[in-house]
Amino acid sequence: MNLNWQQDAILIVDDTPTNLKLLFEMLNNSGFKVSIAKNGESALEKVHDIIPNLILLDVMMPGIDGFETCRRLKANPKTKDIPVIFMTALADTVDKVKGLQLGAVDYITKPIEYEEVLARINVHLELRKTQLKLIQKEKMSSLGVLVAGIAHEINNPVNFISGNLSHAQRYIDDLFKLLNLYEINTSHPIPEIQDLHQEIELDFIKQDLPQVFASMLVGTSRVKKIVQALRVFSRLDESEIKSVDLHEGIDSTLMILNNRFKAKSERSEIEVIKNYTQLPLVECNAGEINQVFMNILVNAIDAIEESLMTKKDSLTENKGAIQIYTALTHNQKSAIIKISDNGIGMSQDVQIRIFDQFFTTKPVGQGTGLGLAIAHQVIVEKHRGTLEVTSVPKQGSEFIMTIPVNG
Ligand SMILES: Nc1ncnc2c1ncn2[C@@H]1O[C@H](COP(=O)(O)OP(=O)(O)OP(=O)(O)O)[C@@H](O)[C@H]1O
Ligand SMILES: [Mg+2]
Repeated sequence: MNLNWQQDAILIVDDTPTNLKLLFEMLNNSGFKVSIAKNGESALEKVHDIIPNLILLDVMMPGIDGFETCRRLKANPKTKDIPVIFMTALADTVDKVKGLQLGAVDYITKPIEYEEVLARINVHLELRKTQLKLIQKEKMSSLGVLVAGIAHEINNPVNFISGNLSHAQRYIDDLFKLLNLYEINTSHPIPEIQDLHQEIELDFIKQDLPQVFASMLVGTSRVKKIVQALRVFSRLDESEIKSVDLHEGIDSTLMILNNRFKAKSERSEIEVIKNYTQLPLVECNAGEINQVFMNILVNAIDAIEESLMTKKDSLTENKGAIQIYTALTHNQKSAIIKISDNGIGMSQDVQIRIFDQFFTTKPVGQGTGLGLAIAHQVIVEKHRGTLEVTSVPKQGSEFIMTIPVNG
């Protein structure tokens, strides 16, 4: 599958057949993946199915004209970021300005100059590529920064508590000892002491207090573990590439997602089945790899939730499950991680596009369509590993990645 930008998809919208033909041939010969629309309406329909990387838009068209088409493209969150280049007649300054005001990135004038069109298209595709990379980077780092920030903020207060708990426990022990001595050596305490003794239920306190302390200790040690997991997850304080225990990374990601696995009013708990084989330390950028685990696991949870929604009646029989399997490849050179779910699954059509930037089947606002594009970039391009998927609609999906052990 071609996931890079060699196959730049360009949509040409023009009602003049000769123009369409000329542009189509020219761009097609230059290696672009060109699709065409003969009017604004069909252009708006086309972008629903496949989002092009750039649109060449004629101004003068019957039906909704280029301006209106552009306005509608810009009004739709899914298409608003596609660069639009207007095509206008040479003298139309007003049109050029209007087009740019509507959010077009550029214009070209008719009759069309081959070299100029190509140069402008390349400039805008390059800009778009840079923009996408920035969005990805932002997405990658913002979660890491947030998580590291929270870990840092919680770390101090939880250390106060856990550090002081042992002192408090010792003081209380001492006070009880003293109290016992008083009790033994005071045969007839004054009524006031006797009353208070009963009122506060001293015997119960003596029994209960050690348990109170024990549960506080369990609580703080759990918070400390969470903080530790957050730190492992974000790995902000460490150098980029280092030897990493991948299981630790998966576990910290699971811990962060813990709340999403729990039972909800509309579904039962999602079971996580771990099947780890012993792995050597793997040289990689742990923060980025953890981000990949996160993206794949979140997708798996989403897929399970979607599947359970369609099987509402038999919720009790249908339990969501995610399996995580790790091993070494035969030649021992790479670690394999398989993450599978019994969620909604994917059709073949969806499968071939899931690694494309901005490809999503989730409602607007819920999915950005970047999760797997980022995963692909991190695993395949940065770590020279592999990332593949197999899936059966309505049954589930499996993501299989390999990461070279020695970088
Ligand atoms: N485990 C899965 N089961 C079924 N479909 C999946 C699974 N993982 C990914 N997909 C499909 O691949 C699409 C792209 O996934 P991707 O993670 O790149 O984007 P997203 O989840 O839609 O949005 P986000 O950018 O928030 O992650 C999803 O919208 C979904 O259709
Ligand atoms: Mg996703």
